[in-house]
Amino acid sequence: MTYHQIATATAAIAAATNRDKHDIALVLGSGLSEYATGLPKAIEVPYERIPGFPVPRVEGHAGSLVSAELGGTNVMVLAGRVHYYEGWPLEEVVFGVRTAVASGAATVVLTNAAGGVGEGLSPGDLVLIKDHLNLTGANPLMGSNDDRLGPRFPDLTGLYNADLRLRASETAGRIGIDLKEGVYAWLTGPSYETPAEIQMIKRLGGDLVGMSTVPEAIAVRHMGSRVLAISLVTNLAAGISPTPLSHAEVQETAAAARSRFSGLIDNLLPHLVA
Ligand code: HPA
Repeated sequence: MTYHQIATATAAIAAATNRDKHDIALVLGSGLSEYATGLPKAIEVPYERIPGFPVPRVEGHAGSLVSAELGGTNVMVLAGRVHYYEGWPLEEVVFGVRTAVASGAATVVLTNAAGGVGEGLSPGDLVLIKDHLNLTGANPLMGSNDDRLGPRFPDLTGLYNADLRLRASETAGRIGIDLKEGVYAWLTGPSYETPAEIQMIKRLGGDLVGMSTVPEAIAVRHMGSRVLAISLVTNLAAGISPTPLSHAEVQETAAAARSRFSGLIDNLLPHLVA
């Protein structure tokens, strides 16, 4: 993936949406793609029509870019993402968010479905990610660095922007949504974790566990934009949950939380413009 491919995709998006610039990008996680339907002044561009865009193959992940206008702000919604566990190289996994930043997004909001590890977390909870543990040993910046995209050795302190988290907490409080905060542990999947791995993650300080988000957050930071990330706890993690984990449970909990999730995002996006 090169600088040139990102520029080509950016130009294709501008042409297809008739919008030169998108100020904010929003990536929708498992079971949350429905948020993209019915947005104001929406223009949908299927990923396969954007040169270089990887197309998701997993059940429950759609694959469309939706450009919308919310309160005078152009928002690029990426409904569906590709995952490392599908076999995509990480530079492909982050192609969408890199294209969003190249399209003008100074703020990128990442969302996901996650397992709950921390005390007091329940399925249906919305949790702001305050930091992450990368337990995969992989990194989307491995390989030669293109200095036009960002530095060789980016600092990840404050990756999950404190000011954006404050705005998110204030918004949630105002509309009566309980928004917690936690540390997200990234594992490759696609198998869910073992109970022993979940105990390890808990001891390491992880509150949430999932298979996405971290590579995208790193790539967005690499390019100098701000990250806000929100997990929806779709299940208690392995060994904490009394029942076996299933993708169906993840989808069902996400569906049940849809209106709360949408309410939070609708109210939040206008407050995130840089
Ligand atoms: N583990 C990893 N990824 C997940 C989980 C989980 O328990 N739930 C949703 N995504």
